[in-house]
Amino acid sequence: MDSNNQGRGSSEFFQAQTQIYKHVCHFMDSMALKCAVQLGIPDVIHNHNKPINLSELASALQISQTKTDCLQRLMRILQHSGFFATTKIVEDQEQEGYILTPFSNLLVKDNVASLSPVVLALLDPVLVNPWHSLTNWFQGNDLTPFETAHGMSFWDLATQNLEFSSSMNELMASDSRITSLVIRDHKEIFQGLNSLVDVGGGTGTLARTISEAFPELKCTVLDLPQVVTNLPESENLKFVAGDMFQSIPSADAIVIKSVLHNWSDEDCVKILKRSREAIASKGKGGKLIIIDMVIDDKKEEHDRTKTKLFMDITMMVMCSGKERKEKDWEKLFLDSGFSHYKITATSELKSIIEVYP
Ligand SMILES: C[S@@+](CC[C@H](N)C(=O)[O-])C[C@H]1O[C@@H](n2cnc3c(N)ncnc32)[C@H](O)[C@@H]1O
Repeated sequence: MDSNNQGRGSSEFFQAQTQIYKHVCHFMDSMALKCAVQLGIPDVIHNHNKPINLSELASALQISQTKTDCLQRLMRILQHSGFFATTKIVEDQEQEGYILTPFSNLLVKDNVASLSPVVLALLDPVLVNPWHSLTNWFQGNDLTPFETAHGMSFWDLATQNLEFSSSMNELMASDSRITSLVIRDHKEIFQGLNSLVDVGGGTGTLARTISEAFPELKCTVLDLPQVVTNLPESENLKFVAGDMFQSIPSADAIVIKSVLHNWSDEDCVKILKRSREAIASKGKGGKLIIIDMVIDDKKEEHDRTKTKLFMDITMMVMCSGKERKEKDWEKLFLDSGFSHYKITATSELKSIIEVYP
């Protein structure tokens, strides 16, 4: 008994108790955040244009007076996590009102870079349920915990369930809007190119930004038929339905954003080989441009690595994918016949990797 409780009475013992409770309860942070987004709390505070007190917030959210105290407790835990702050109300210095912080500002639906679709999609029961199957999956033979939970692969469910597929497309479009902000700071990567194919480019958020920034650049988005059918095209933006494992249209540059992390190393090599074949101007500036995470736990700050590790295990649970370190990427490039590469870190979680045939 004593050997299991070494240090009992010391501060480490009780710190360990707090840590375990905190970890067990972390999902409550996620669920409180989801509830705030579903209720539209960031939007109400934003639209109020000044600090909003509790009763004004409850009334704007149409929450019954009997639950005002519960709303205050929801706000308190979210405030503790940094999502909201309080400040004195100018007209009545006795009262405090809620205001947005940089975190909750990113959840306002009108914000062009709003991450509320990410919150709603990643915390949808379809994506949360497989986590309950993690142990059974380790002990069984299914390909992914997603399959253990749903009896089919992530991709099959996305094909069959249009609501799920559209929430995933919104998640990715939201993620791509953030990447688009970063791309504007790295325009040199696209200079001198005449054509580009965005492989698995979803509903075209990233390709649209690139096509607008470079009107002379012919952009094509390749994705599955159910994703790209009936999307609006422009003079230099086209959508093509197809399968990246079979064939990729030829272009000066192939862009692949947030796709390779969905797939195993074997599948990535297949996609990379198809990409290499598709690069038209090999040796004359033609290249593959990958926008994806690179785990660099030695150099980057703890929170950044932690977020990447969360994404890594999400890929494992959903679809046999993974986040990779530089040496993992290098191996994939060499195995698929590329000669060299250059990684550019960006201010967001993903890096830009230029890979040359
Ligand atoms: C995680 S999303 C990334 C979307 C987009 N690149 C972005 O970052 O917003 C993966 C995309 O790959 C597409 N995809 C999956 N399998 C595919 C295949 N065999 N051929 C082409 N696209 C595929 C999906 O439909 C989806 O749009």
